[in-house]
Amino acid sequence: MVDCMSRVMLHTALSCWHPLLGVALVAVFVGSAMGCPARCDCSAQSRSVLCHRKRLPTIPDGIPIETRVLDLSKNRIHAINPDDFAAYPQLEELDLSGNNIIYVEPGAFNMLFNMHSLSLKSNRIKLLSQGVFTGMTNLTVLDISDNKIVILLDYMFQDLRNLRSLEVGDNDLVYISHWAFSGLLVLESLTLERCNLTEVPKEALSHLHGLISLHMRHLNIGALKENSFRKLHRLQHLEIDQWPSLDTFPASALHGLNLSTLSITNTNLTALPARALSHLTHLTHLNLSFNPIRHISEAMLQGLVRLEVLHLAGAHLSGIAPHAFHGLSHLRVLNISHNRLDTLEISVFQSPEALRVLQIDHNPLVCDCRLMWLLQKPHTLSFGEAQPECSPVEGAPRGRPYKVKEALHSNHVTCIKPKIDENKTQMVSVDEGQRALLHCSARGKPNPVVSWLTPRRQHLTRSRGRATLHDNGTLEIRPAETQDGGVYVCVASNTAGNDSVRVSLAVKNLGSLYANRTQFYTDAANATANGTLPSNMTFGLDLKTILVSTAMGCFTFLGVVLFCFLLLFVWSRGKGKHKNNIDIEYVPRSKSNGGSTDGTDQGAGPRRFNMKMI
Ligand SMILES: *[C@@H]1O[C@H](CO)[C@@H](O)[C@H](O)[C@H]1NC(C)=O
Ligand SMILES: *[C@@H]1O[C@H](CO)[C@@H](O)[C@H](O)[C@H]1NC(C)=O
Ligand SMILES: *[C@@H]1O[C@H](CO)[C@@H](O)[C@H](O)[C@H]1NC(C)=O
Ligand SMILES: *[C@@H]1O[C@H](CO)[C@@H](O)[C@H](O)[C@H]1NC(C)=O
Ligand SMILES: *[C@@H]1O[C@H](CO)[C@@H](O)[C@H](O)[C@H]1NC(C)=O
Ligand SMILES: *[C@@H]1O[C@H](CO)[C@@H](O)[C@H](O)[C@H]1NC(C)=O
Ligand SMILES: *[C@@H]1O[C@H](CO)[C@@H](O)[C@H](O)[C@H]1NC(C)=O
Ligand SMILES: *[C@@H]1O[C@H](CO)[C@@H](O)[C@H](O)[C@H]1NC(C)=O
Ligand SMILES: *[C@@H]1O[C@H](CO)[C@@H](O)[C@H](O)[C@H]1NC(C)=O
Ligand SMILES: *[C@@H]1O[C@H](CO)[C@@H](O)[C@H](O)[C@H]1NC(C)=O
Ligand SMILES: *[C@@H]1O[C@H](CO)[C@@H](O)[C@H](O)[C@H]1NC(C)=O
Ligand SMILES: *[C@@H]1O[C@H](CO)[C@@H](O)[C@H](O)[C@H]1NC(C)=O
Repeated sequence: MVDCMSRVMLHTALSCWHPLLGVALVAVFVGSAMGCPARCDCSAQSRSVLCHRKRLPTIPDGIPIETRVLDLSKNRIHAINPDDFAAYPQLEELDLSGNNIIYVEPGAFNMLFNMHSLSLKSNRIKLLSQGVFTGMTNLTVLDISDNKIVILLDYMFQDLRNLRSLEVGDNDLVYISHWAFSGLLVLESLTLERCNLTEVPKEALSHLHGLISLHMRHLNIGALKENSFRKLHRLQHLEIDQWPSLDTFPASALHGLNLSTLSITNTNLTALPARALSHLTHLTHLNLSFNPIRHISEAMLQGLVRLEVLHLAGAHLSGIAPHAFHGLSHLRVLNISHNRLDTLEISVFQSPEALRVLQIDHNPLVCDCRLMWLLQKPHTLSFGEAQPECSPVEGAPRGRPYKVKEALHSNHVTCIKPKIDENKTQMVSVDEGQRALLHCSARGKPNPVVSWLTPRRQHLTRSRGRATLHDNGTLEIRPAETQDGGVYVCVASNTAGNDSVRVSLAVKNLGSLYANRTQFYTDAANATANGTLPSNMTFGLDLKTILVSTAMGCFTFLGVVLFCFLLLFVWSRGKGKHKNNIDIEYVPRSKSNGGSTDGTDQGAGPRRFNMKMI
């Protein structure tokens, strides 16, 4: 009604201004009214003709020449012929989605220079030959998704030099020719989904120099190739979602990209593709949710210096190593809900003060002092959409699991500093080729983490080479070699503190002329001394070798005798005096952590250690 009134008023005004124009306008209106196809709704003002769901078998007659918007969606149209739209040169938007179109003749949209938006979605098109889109130089949006297209041919989009958005998803696409995307110079957004592609069409994609966002969903691609996205220099948003068989992600897969958001979700990746991401220094959002990723190691993401938001929900995370987020000083939002984490220590963060949202619900969290840090910033830290809960502990009263914050405020959280059972100085001696066992079993609450420092200053936190680190803290070296000798330091640590023990290992050299010579090292820093002969030295008859070896043996022998004298001397001086006993009193750190934890540490009052010095 209002529409009609305003039209009449406009008409009146115009006709007052110029009678001739008025007559012309009347003619047009009459023409439109008469030209509106049967069963369709026409609006002269917006110059649109809407024939949605009218069971039309063909393009209806009587569409006004000046039509701008034509909606023919959900009809029964079978084919598009070259002349079908030639009569409507002012068409800007054409919707042919949801018909039965099998074939589109080349030149079907010829002369439609003003066309901005074309949808051929949800038809039965099997092939779009080259020339179908000829002349649509002003087209910006094209949707050919949900058809039966098997192949995209070379140069088929050649004329679409203003196209910004292309949807080709939901087809039976098996292959995209290398030059298929040629000419799409300003394409900004491309969606490729639900196709039968078996690899990323990297040759075709390399023509899309203007591409800003690429969405690839529901693809059955098992492995990304190296340089899969080369020449996409402007790409900022990459989405890889629902690739259930993807398990290979080479380090150079994302080479050449400078992304700001990246999403790799619902794949079969069991490890974080850290090396492939490390060059993305402008990345701010990373979504790695719903991948079977099990662990995040130390400093794994350190290249992502601008990362603000990290989603790792629904993964299989059972551990996040200390300093895992080393380098991520802007991390604001961390979403690790629905994982298998028993805790999250503050040491994983580079700057915990930057954290605003921590979504950690649906994890089997153990509410012990490792989570105490959450209480220190109660006002600035949000738990997102769901409050995390503590998993039930053995011996604790049964009942519904309680919220982490309540638990931390209650008096049930205890911390006990690690205590190593073994004697403070151990001497271990083994034959070369045998296995050496260095024990270090520690108790504490939470369970301490055991690591070893080797004589060569290597830090062993897990098995490496000949060294196996058992869960009970024992370090096994098999087979032992002479150069393994030296002082090993075991450190057991948890949030409450740490304890350490030194183990001196001597490996008897059986292969040399001086077998059964045992050498104990007494100083870890000097343990790299090369006091032993090469382990594979042979019994050659070379006189020179024997002479040199004998000389070296004498020197070593003299050295050992001197050392023994020195020891005797030191011991005799110490005799008679009171032995140096050192008492160390330790107060667990957690006491100072939260103000309201009084009385929570009864089990861990000041602890006393007795160290004997020779
Ligand atoms: C694109 O459309 C504008 C009007 O919107 C028109 O002037 C121009 O000629 C068209 N471009 C081409 C190449 O036809
Ligand atoms: C594409 O995959 C679907 C489902 O896996 C299958 O039904 C269809 O036949 C495949 N198409 C081609 C062309 O291989
Ligand atoms: C995912 O990987 C596991 C082995 O790691 C394999 O058993 C499974 O079949 C894979 N899933 C798919 C969909 O390929
Ligand atoms: C990467 O992208 C950012 C914007 O997201 C831009 O500021 C920066 O210059 C780009 N770096 C390179 C090397 O192109
Ligand atoms: C991350 O990806 C998952 C799976 O595709 C999606 O459900 C979730 O909304 C994404 N999160 C964000 C913040 O985009
Ligand atoms: C965390 O991820 C889950 C699953 O994708 C999502 O439902 C939730 O909204 C996310 N939380 C935040 C704070 O983004
Ligand atoms: C540890 O030292 C105690 C005496 O202080 C001794 O009885 C015990 O046998 C030693 N244990 C080991 C494994 O050396
Ligand atoms: C720890 O486990 C290893 C392997 O199971 C075993 O050889 C070693 O004796 C154990 N250590 C202790 C102290 O029981
Ligand atoms: C080293 O000592 C063991 C006994 O401790 C002995 O059985 C062996 O024969 C000795 N080896 C050599 C090369 O003397
Ligand atoms: C190693 O031993 C040498 C003497 O053999 C001594 O001068 C040096 O200070 C020792 N180094 C350390 C770090 O103790
Ligand atoms: C041990 O030997 C290596 C070469 O085999 C040498 O570089 C190193 O300096 C030696 N270390 C000591 C403490 O003599
Ligand atoms: C002996 O050991 C050295 C290094 O320890 C090695 O380079 C050399 O190949 C070995 N020789 C034999 C015969 O095994």
